Amino acid sequence: MTARACVIGWPIGHSRSPLIHGHWLGRHEIDGSYTKHEVTPEDLEEFLTKMPEQGFVGANVTVPHKEQALALADHADEAARAIGAANTLWFEDGKIHASNTDAYGFLRNLDQEAPGWDQSSGSALVLGAGGAARAVLFGLLTRGFDDIRLANRTRERADELASHFGGGIAVVDWEARNDHVEGCALIVNTTSLGMTGAPPLDLDLANAGSCTVVTDLVYVPLETPLLAQARARGLRVVDGLGMLLHQAEPGFERWFGVRPEVTDDLRQLIIDDLSET
Ligand code: ATR
Repeated sequence: MTARACVIGWPIGHSRSPLIHGHWLGRHEIDGSYTKHEVTPEDLEEFLTKMPEQGFVGANVTVPHKEQALALADHADEAARAIGAANTLWFEDGKIHASNTDAYGFLRNLDQEAPGWDQSSGSALVLGAGGAARAVLFGLLTRGFDDIRLANRTRERADELASHFGGGIAVVDWEARNDHVEGCALIVNTTSLGMTGAPPLDLDLANAGSCTVVTDLVYVPLETPLLAQARARGLRVVDGLGMLLHQAEPGFERWFGVRPEVTDDLRQLIIDDLSET
């Protein structure tokens, strides 16, 4: 039987996951399908329960279902539990298994685009304290970062996040964020600032050391004002599209049995799609 997988969200129109997985299915000539489904929060449990009998081997879940999917899962891996949300599900022995591959995608993107990024000494400055920041912080902690500064407009959210991870993360005032640029090995924007239609992230990189890597989770536009500033200063920059692409790898391998690769072809496919819409 054709192995089926899909992405579930509400709404779902914007998801690029069908393009990514469709590209890999074609490249590896796999008899499989990857579709997208709009499911309301009220219907999620019933939808998931009925998936195996319809030939589904698993699914990605996106906004607003990531927390509920974790709650509905019978087994969740360490990443999903630590991040408090699931984005990748698979069905095995009548059970729902859950993972979160966002931290993996974040780390792989940096590994590929800025090799050695985690080897230089220095702190990490993370801007933002939403769901994306949770995945980034979990990823940095698994790589052994022990000097992480976290700044968020709403300080309480940053405090909550820091205490959730229990040490290793120092919350700093949003207004004082520029003071923490000096000595950074890595600067990460997880806020929506810099996205098309939103104001830019106001961060002064003048005091960043020459080894600093600057990455933005925003990928529309691909080169945000933050990345443009970093590039102009000669810093290493990594855009956010790679995280989106790499986070899809583990699900594809689990459902379809082949480890896919993030290639220039795939990247271009998504860039073309982004520029059309
Ligand atoms: P996600 O799950 O994608 O991380 P989110 O939970 O909505 O999304 O988080 C968005 C982040 O962008 C938050 O850190 C938010 O700051 P608040 O917690 O103070 O809301 C940040 N953000 C959005 N607009 C902002 C702005 N104008 N200035 C500063 N931070 C902003």
